[in-house]
Amino acid sequence: MKKPIVIVTRRWPEEVEARLSDHFELTLNKTDAPFLQKDLKDAFRSYDAIFTTVTDKIDKDLFAGNDVRVKFIGNFGVGFNNIDVEAAQQRGIVVTNTPDVLTDATADLTLALLLSVARGTGAGERHLRGGFWTGWRPTHMLGSQVTGKTLGIIGYGRIGQAAAHRARHGFGMGIKVYSRSLVPADVLAENNAEQLSSLDKLMRISDFVSLHCPSTPETRYLINSDWLKLMKPSAFLINTARGDLVNEEDLIEALDAKTIAGAGLDVFEAEPRVNPGLLDRSDVVLLPHLGSATVETRNAMGFRVLENAVAFFAGSVPPDVVSL
Ligand code: DGY
Repeated sequence: MKKPIVIVTRRWPEEVEARLSDHFELTLNKTDAPFLQKDLKDAFRSYDAIFTTVTDKIDKDLFAGNDVRVKFIGNFGVGFNNIDVEAAQQRGIVVTNTPDVLTDATADLTLALLLSVARGTGAGERHLRGGFWTGWRPTHMLGSQVTGKTLGIIGYGRIGQAAAHRARHGFGMGIKVYSRSLVPADVLAENNAEQLSSLDKLMRISDFVSLHCPSTPETRYLINSDWLKLMKPSAFLINTARGDLVNEEDLIEALDAKTIAGAGLDVFEAEPRVNPGLLDRSDVVLLPHLGSATVETRNAMGFRVLENAVAFFAGSVPPDVVSL
């Protein structure tokens, strides 16, 4: 039987790329340069499936016309806000994502950012490497204690729960949750968490606020000056979800006004561009979207796309079909 013709938009881990070729007639992106919209448009007309990432903007224009050949989009990532899923569905194109496999890595990085911004590890390292360190002293670079503090989590899905688990069981933190849907009591009990009925309350009482909800039209700029001004001046904002959940201009204003103490950000609104107002601050820790960036996790994400695509071309329902 002829293998389906598949294009992969970015470099994937070697091990995964090798396995993909067992199943598909593959076009790989050896240079790893992000596809332009024109490349995507061509790809949608020449391949049976396209394997995308967060850097590919799959908008409805790509589905226009009668010459679209793609029937399957395998997104390498759990978030799929880069894809107009509704338009894809209308064209009968199946979209899948990679849930579960990146939960631990992303929750680990959430805690890394939280610890880093609270204890000034980035600023400390720059201080030392810059040759400014004159020796230990009782008042040098004092951070904020993490153990025992209150962590407010917005969005209590897999990653939110995994971050809560680490914070609760590793650092004895109190966990408060804000979520659209009612979280079952046994799920809350695992981390001794309390679900609050209003975001207002969570913002007021948390020492750290961590975002774990998807990016949707409703959650865009969820965190703006109205909410930031409710936070404690000693509190920190952590974002490992999506950049557009936070209005970055409002965040910069809040940092300038010392309405909040700092922020740990792994994601940005206009990646890879980072708002210049964030770049030279010492009260923020900034990472280049590393949430799922471990060898183990990126392999697992690739294999998950493969599993979904193999199921699709075998005529089965793939395990991770995205639904709105
Ligand atoms: C994810 O899986 O959503 C990561 O942020 C990369 O897209």
